[in-house]
Amino acid sequence: MSTTETTAPPERAGASAPAVTVAGLHKTFTTKEGRTQALTGIDLQVAAGEFVSLIGPSGCGKSTLLRIIADLERPTTGEVRVFGTSAPQARLDKAYGIAFQQAGLLGWRTVAANVELPLELHGVGRAARRVRSTELLELVGLSDFAARFPDQLSGGMQQRVAIARALAERPRLLLMDEPFGALDEMTRERMQTELARISAETGAAVVFVTHSISEAAFLSDRVVVMSPRPGRITTTVTTGLGPVGQRTDALREDPRFFEAVTAVREGLHAGSAGTPAPDAGTDGRSDSTRPAT
Ligand SMILES: Nc1ncnc2c1ncn2[C@@H]1O[C@H](COP(=O)(O)OP(=O)(O)OP(=O)(O)O)[C@@H](O)[C@H]1O
Ligand SMILES: [Mg+2]
Repeated sequence: MSTTETTAPPERAGASAPAVTVAGLHKTFTTKEGRTQALTGIDLQVAAGEFVSLIGPSGCGKSTLLRIIADLERPTTGEVRVFGTSAPQARLDKAYGIAFQQAGLLGWRTVAANVELPLELHGVGRAARRVRSTELLELVGLSDFAARFPDQLSGGMQQRVAIARALAERPRLLLMDEPFGALDEMTRERMQTELARISAETGAAVVFVTHSISEAAFLSDRVVVMSPRPGRITTTVTTGLGPVGQRTDALREDPRFFEAVTAVREGLHAGSAGTPAPDAGTDGRSDSTRPAT
């Protein structure tokens, strides 16, 4: 791994450090079929409390990037820091929570016991666990379902349990990989509004992988557009839609929302058409940023 300097100060994992700093990241997978260059020249910074989406065609490396930030994969070269510490240290510090497309709940545990699982694994006592799961289920609107089992819940409710579980240890960073991908459109929009509220209430930074242009625009402070072969960042769109806590359903009919959607769509099309974004270098790497118009 390189020793690339980053803007993240190496001191304590303090409030001043960005939630995520990725610098000069490359990732190549080597299998018996050959080598896949999954990510190249990724530079990305996510501020504390910021909501950033990753969007791009299938195979562009979104999940790989998220997994590297979560220390579930190692970079080939480059550096990742989470609140100023290394990714492995952040994992030990439980600095982030994770939620994936499948809620991944344990069917034999109640809703409350699923939410409490990370706390149980880390030795938190029974009474403290129950206090925390009670407040988290209230946060995600499932107080009446604590004693139910996952298969008694709808898909959207299961995903809310998964989000509550990801928040159990009060992470300052949430890593989410298509968490609403399996939900119908109506439920999905409701979950987006819920997530906006929850992220505002907790103050957690969010790195959110999605295929949905409108979802990315609605939720994000910035949308990072990626293109494949090898996966790289082509454009970053700043949505300019105000604090995430103000993302209510009314925003969906606001012209500023449509402008953000258009900016993300144009960024995606430019990347997928193989058109280099402005400032793209001959090595295919681009650090260009473009604010929403
Ligand atoms: N463990 C692995 N071993 C080998 N190749 C991998 C591995 N994980 C991912 N890849 C390859 O890396 C590339 C990026 O995969 P990744 O899953 O990150 O894409 P993605 O953007 O999340 O796609 P999708 O939108 O379909 O989820 C793909 O070419 C994939 O085949
Ligand atoms: Mg993926």
